[in-house]
Amino acid sequence: MMSASSQTSRRQFLQGMAAFGATSILLPSANRAFGFQSANERPVFATIGLRNQGWTITSKSFRHADFAALADVDANVLADNVAKVEKHQGKKPDAYQDYRKILDRKDIDAVMIATPDHWHTKIAVEAMRAGKDVYCEKPLTLTIDEGKLIEKVVKETGRVFQVGTMQRTESDQRFLQAIALIRDGRIGTVKKVTCGINGMEASPVIPAVDVPKELNWDLWLGPAAKVPYRALPEIRQGYGGGVPLYSNCHYSFRNWHEYSGGKLTDWGAHHVDIACWALGATDTGPSKISPLEYQLPVEYKDGNPVVDDRYNAATMFRIQVDMPNDVEMIITSEGDNGILFEGTEGRFFVNRGKLAGKPVEDLKDKPLPEGAVEKVYGGPVSANHTANFIEGMKARKQPISDVWSHNRMLEICHLSNIAMRLGRDLNWDAAKREIVGDEQANSFLSREYRKGYEIQG
Ligand SMILES: NC(=O)c1ccc[n+]([C@@H]2O[C@H](COP(=O)([O-])OP(=O)(O)OC[C@H]3O[C@@H](n4cnc5c(N)ncnc54)[C@H](O)[C@@H]3O)[C@@H](O)[C@H]2O)c1
Repeated sequence: MMSASSQTSRRQFLQGMAAFGATSILLPSANRAFGFQSANERPVFATIGLRNQGWTITSKSFRHADFAALADVDANVLADNVAKVEKHQGKKPDAYQDYRKILDRKDIDAVMIATPDHWHTKIAVEAMRAGKDVYCEKPLTLTIDEGKLIEKVVKETGRVFQVGTMQRTESDQRFLQAIALIRDGRIGTVKKVTCGINGMEASPVIPAVDVPKELNWDLWLGPAAKVPYRALPEIRQGYGGGVPLYSNCHYSFRNWHEYSGGKLTDWGAHHVDIACWALGATDTGPSKISPLEYQLPVEYKDGNPVVDDRYNAATMFRIQVDMPNDVEMIITSEGDNGILFEGTEGRFFVNRGKLAGKPVEDLKDKPLPEGAVEKVYGGPVSANHTANFIEGMKARKQPISDVWSHNRMLEICHLSNIAMRLGRDLNWDAAKREIVGDEQANSFLSREYRKGYEIQG
């Protein structure tokens, strides 16, 4: 039974979702009582891709869901995570190398996807077609056209889809407070937003070596072209560590355009996301992208790297993005990681650790109006990003990180990469979602899938 207060919160949550705008669509109602396969109102989940972030989102979800299965193409990663999940929930999840075994199971309500980016779209589309709700890590896609496909399949299947941009829910609501400050006019009219997302490291030449015996390299590559496995012996320390520091596989896939988009999509997916939300630019886009300064670690010809034995994603950059209402956005590898908002009447900075500046100090004497943060979020702020996903699953409503607004901001990140790869400014038609008058640049809106790994749209 739901208490009166939880019914009220549910109602507020639904109203909030409606307030989120064009992205909020009503989905077909669930055909089971609460929509879940288990009798205890807890959804049954499975995670696909476990090594680093896969474990983070799985372990953050134990309070809310039961994990029936895990899939990974690295047998060691799979075995480690089966043991960890069993230890935490007291029940051993089933283990698969091939994620399609998970999609075939009728007892699983939702999948969490934390593979490298080049797999996201294919797995997400197949999961929705198999009747699963989806929590997929950011950046959702490798190309702009993949975003359009995901939107189409969400609409067709009525599945609930959360993107893993958890800054929208978590970080002590710091980003929500930042947006509330702007909505309350504390810096006047916003004129400039600077997203500091740090640079990428270059790499030495990384030789082709034997594939580790625990890794199914062919399946790791999946939709990407067949290439040799590359690695140097030195081991990555710290965050994401325990694997070769330089490779074209675990963790380092971020540095290769074949599998990801460098810092632009890795951190851009977080800070450009908040910037666009703050600007109210969640269903529109820029008119122009200008790569003012940048450095690619290898030579490029016709938008493609001429060598294949070292990292190829931009190491430093300063990109100017012309946003609607004459707002200038700068995406830069220089300076602090975080977002600087500048308006006609002030400026402030926000990142995961702090919210700073005079408008923030002024809050002591002049707090935000009651409910300002909830108004930004569209209802009471969920306990975490998984809880928000599950609330959406129950209500059959899209969660806070819906695919439409995510794709819009990710277009800026993908376009920035295309502009750097081609070395020129791009004019963008946000209504048509096409680059204006540049056939070669438009060819980068999609990619070829390896035979046998095409996506059935
Ligand atoms: N939200 C965040 O803040 C955040 C943080 C870190 C990573 N991420 C995202 O999570 C994703 C994974 O990043 P990571 O650092 O965990 O990478 P990782 O390389 O450490 O882990 C990826 C795992 O996916 C597995 N995998 C690859 N293909 C697979 C397939 N077809 N089926 C099953 N498993 C497969 C790999 O074997 C590996 O274990 C990326 O998209 C990344 O951008 C998000």
